[in-house]
Amino acid sequence: MNIKRMFKVAGVFALGVTLSACQGQLSEKPPIHPNMNMDQQPRVEAQEENNFFADGRAMRQPVDGTVARGLAKTDLAYYEGIEENGDFIDYIPVDLTKSFLYRGKERYEIYCAPCHGQTGAGDGIIMEGNYGYVPAPSYHDQRVRELSDGELYSAIYNGVRTMPSYSTLVPVEDRWAIVAYIRALQESQNINEQEIREYPVDVDAMQAAFADKQARQDSIAAASTPEDAPEPTVDMGKEVITANGCAACHNEDGTPGGIGPTWAGLFGSEGEVITADGETITVTKDEDYIRESIVAPEAAKPVDYAQGVMASYSYLADHEIESIVLYIKNLSEN
Ligand code: HEC
Ligand code: HEC
Repeated sequence: MNIKRMFKVAGVFALGVTLSACQGQLSEKPPIHPNMNMDQQPRVEAQEENNFFADGRAMRQPVDGTVARGLAKTDLAYYEGIEENGDFIDYIPVDLTKSFLYRGKERYEIYCAPCHGQTGAGDGIIMEGNYGYVPAPSYHDQRVRELSDGELYSAIYNGVRTMPSYSTLVPVEDRWAIVAYIRALQESQNINEQEIREYPVDVDAMQAAFADKQARQDSIAAASTPEDAPEPTVDMGKEVITANGCAACHNEDGTPGGIGPTWAGLFGSEGEVITADGETITVTKDEDYIRESIVAPEAAKPVDYAQGVMASYSYLADHEIESIVLYIKNLSEN
């Protein structure tokens, strides 16, 4: 290599170092930006004003009827769990596989088990503490067993009564996986006697305990005509209150801060209530008032609980309501 050539190579090298090293130093001059591409051009910021449009806004609405890519949710059965006519579907519109069920189990245990319990018996950890939650029903109650797949889906998608929707946390496919898992849980708890006798458990003692409880509840709730209705008693009141989960919101020992007013000293007291018309009146809390609070809570709400969340229990039989009245009355008499 001759001397001239060496200088040339060294020169090119030095130029390269000089250009590539022009980074990181402070400079008063604007940066060199040889190829502008479209890096700088006229534009408007989000929310900016723009006189070009009649409404003065720079941001434009999408044309009516625009559907974002991937959001044309026309499959009602899959996305909403309903038929064209709005009825709930009674099938799971996704192929059931073992891994899908396990996915459902995993999601269920994250999002539902804290309230509904690991087996779906309504005994999740949140229900054990006295946190004032409305009790979650058991999936093994006949009523819930008979809900269609679409209704179970809807509980997650829309929420149900006091249970909020979980649709932002649980995407569509996972909702169906959870529905499938709830069905598996229901199967697991509905074992027949033949099968259960193959396990080492005292079936007869379990049956006797169950029959006992059932007989007690039946005598209270199942009286279909007023004639065979049992005589309301304070003890019956206690059973009805327990069966309906009133204690989730009410207490009997006067502790303040519950979701609903305490029952301690309620009977016979005077208090200001807001009527359904929004008037504030003072009432004496007698038997009629308690009855009304149970069947039509919106008719008169204590002023401190004007945002009342109590639902009507008008489905209770008369003797059940009377037994609650006796029970609450009894709290003030002792
Ligand atoms: C924060 C507690 C809580 C969580 C978490 C929760 N639920 Fe519930 N769920 C409830 C309560 C309370 C009710 C009863 C609502 C009522 O009757 O007002 C309920 C009712 C239901 C019902 C019965 C619907 C009916 O028609 O009676 C289903 C099914 C259900 N939940 C499914 C789910 C599923 C699936 C999940 C998980 C994605 C879930 N829930 C998460 C509290 C919860
Ligand atoms: C979800 C919570 C909740 C449940 C469950 C609930 N209540 Fe209430 N209850 C309230 C709230 C809140 C109020 C006050 C505002 C209103 O009436 O809605 C109230 C008001 C009452 C009152 C009037 C109290 C007063 O100081 O004037 C009675 C009586 C009553 N409830 C009985 C019952 C009975 C009996 C049950 C069960 C069958 C029950 N409640 C279940 C929340 C609940």
